[in-house]
Formats: sequence, C-alpha cells, structure tokens
Amino acid sequence: MLSFETMERKLQSALSLPRYIHTMGVVKTAVKMAKKWGVDVDEARVAALLHDCAKDYPEEMKRRFCKEFHVPLDETMQACIDLCHGPLGAEVAKREYGVTDEAVCDAIRYHTTGRPGMSDLEKIIFIADYIEPNRKPFAGLEEGRALAYEDLDLAMEQILKDTIDYVKERKRPLHHLSVEAYTYYHQKGKEIRKQNQET
Ligand SMILES: [Fe+2]
Ligand SMILES: [Fe+2]
Repeated sequence: MLSFETMERKLQSALSLPRYIHTMGVVKTAVKMAKKWGVDVDEARVAALLHDCAKDYPEEMKRRFCKEFHVPLDETMQACIDLCHGPLGAEVAKREYGVTDEAVCDAIRYHTTGRPGMSDLEKIIFIADYIEPNRKPFAGLEEGRALAYEDLDLAMEQILKDTIDYVKERKRPLHHLSVEAYTYYHQKGKEIRKQNQET
C-alpha cells in the first residue's frame, strides 16, 4: 500500500477541487467517528480518502474500467452509471493505490448504496460521506449528524430513508441494495426503539 501522503497526492490529481474538499471533510469525520466507535482509525482514514476515487472519471472511462477490472454493471448501474463509483472505486483502490485490506475495499464498495448487515467501518464511511462539514445544509442533515455519535444503526436508518426519498422524488433509478439496506436498518431501528422504551 502507498503511504497516506502519496495516496493523497495521487488522489488530488484524479478529483475535481470541490470533490477533493468533500473528501477531506469525509476523512476528518470518519476519523472522529472511528475514535468514538472503537474502529481502526487507519482503516477509516484510508477508506474515507479513497471512497470517491473513481467518481470523477468521465462516463466512458467508468464503463471501460468496469469492463477491464471485471466490475459487473447491474441494470440500475447501467441506467445510472454514477452508481458504479463505489464498486469501481474499490477495485481502483486495490489496483492503483495498493490497498489489500478487504474491509477497507468493502467500505468503499458499499458507500453509495449501503447493504444489509454492514460492518461498523462500512457504516462510518457511509454516514461520514453524508454528514461531512462541507455539505450544504439540507433537511435531515443535523439529525444525521447527531445520530452519528449516538447510534450507528439509527443513523443508517435515517440516512437511507432520506436518500431513498431523495432518489424517488427525482425519479432516479433506485438500487436494490439501498432498499434492502433500509428494510434491514428500519427493522433494527424498531428493535432499538422498543428496547429503549422498555428500559
Ligand atoms: Fe460517493
Ligand atoms: Fe462522497
């Protein structure tokens, strides 16, 4: 694996300036959350740094690299190519940045869609992406920011719900993993709320 500084420099040339600024906000937030939740800080830092490493590739390049790196494009990704930047980013992290830690790759892979039964590292990257300090204010952002330090599963539930509503409102294609993830974390949320009532 390359040193963090070398990765940072390499990444800077692959991203637009606003995306780089967003990324550094995600790094800062993910490190803070990792400390709070007892997750490996170095893993969180690298996953956050590289989470959008393939996002600014032009569409043609995304399609070409997906083919070359054997990243399967499902129907939803075909219709909305931007959705592939998670799974493609995980492959780019391996091949271009020398990341060998599968847990880090999975956090990059699922940061856009989520999935049921995520690891704490995966949840942290997903949530940090949403709440990082450079995000322009929107409904649900402050709630997400508070939940991020109270309960990772409740934060996942809220952010997935907001994300799905947002995608539906704009009539964009919704990825099945997001729906499955929401069903999973909504169920968890119900259990947590029930437990809190009982105690
Ligand atoms: Fe992303
Ligand atoms: Fe992002």
